[in-house]
Amino acid sequence: MSNFIIEKGKENDWEDAMALAYRIFQKYVAAEYSKEGVDNFVSFITDQHLYRMFMIDEYHLWVARSETGEIIGMGSLRSGNHISLLFVDDKWQRMGVGRSIIHAMEDFVSESDKTCITVNASPYGIPFYHSVGFVDTDKETVNGGMIITPMKKMIFE
Ligand SMILES: CC(C)(COP(=O)(O)OP(=O)(O)OC[C@H]1O[C@@H](n2cnc3c(N)ncnc32)[C@H](O)[C@@H]1OP(=O)(O)O)[C@@H](O)C(=O)NCCC(=O)NCCS
Repeated sequence: MSNFIIEKGKENDWEDAMALAYRIFQKYVAAEYSKEGVDNFVSFITDQHLYRMFMIDEYHLWVARSETGEIIGMGSLRSGNHISLLFVDDKWQRMGVGRSIIHAMEDFVSESDKTCITVNASPYGIPFYHSVGFVDTDKETVNGGMIITPMKKMIFE
């Protein structure tokens, strides 16, 4: 039941990965955001610009897949080292899927010239990011209706 793999997302994973992000966002994050924040999030993940960036390898996607091939987690990076999205299916949370996606992202970033990985954590994600080694770089703030805590993790100490 808890076997899964992490792999780089391909073109035909995009729709399922974004559908998972939308579903888990609605369940765990949306309630703490204003309507503006929820609308901004939905526009962000449905925007064709994001998909085009993915298609030209400027926006990177990872998926976690169960033994049956179903996408049970997803994460994405923008600007080469900034976590843009990270969502794990509710039936699969607290089984190490999120941590494994972060490790795959760290491996990717460590092969570039970047020395850290950054994220704007949602309130729900804060204990998770602290647990996998991120530290706050600023206070919680509201940006476009979205509540975020900026954090980073050094790749090379
Ligand atoms: C945050 C999220 C991605 C974590 O994914 P996950 O696969 O459940 O995380 P892991 O199982 O790898 O957890 C690793 C560690 O993080 C900590 N952690 C994870 N979820 C936690 C929670 N809800 N509360 C407290 N600590 C948590 C724990 O220390 C955990 O280790 P443990 O289970 O051995 O105690 C997932 O809960 C999720 O999709 N949340 C909703 C969306 C969200 O907030 N995403 C972040 C957007 S910035």
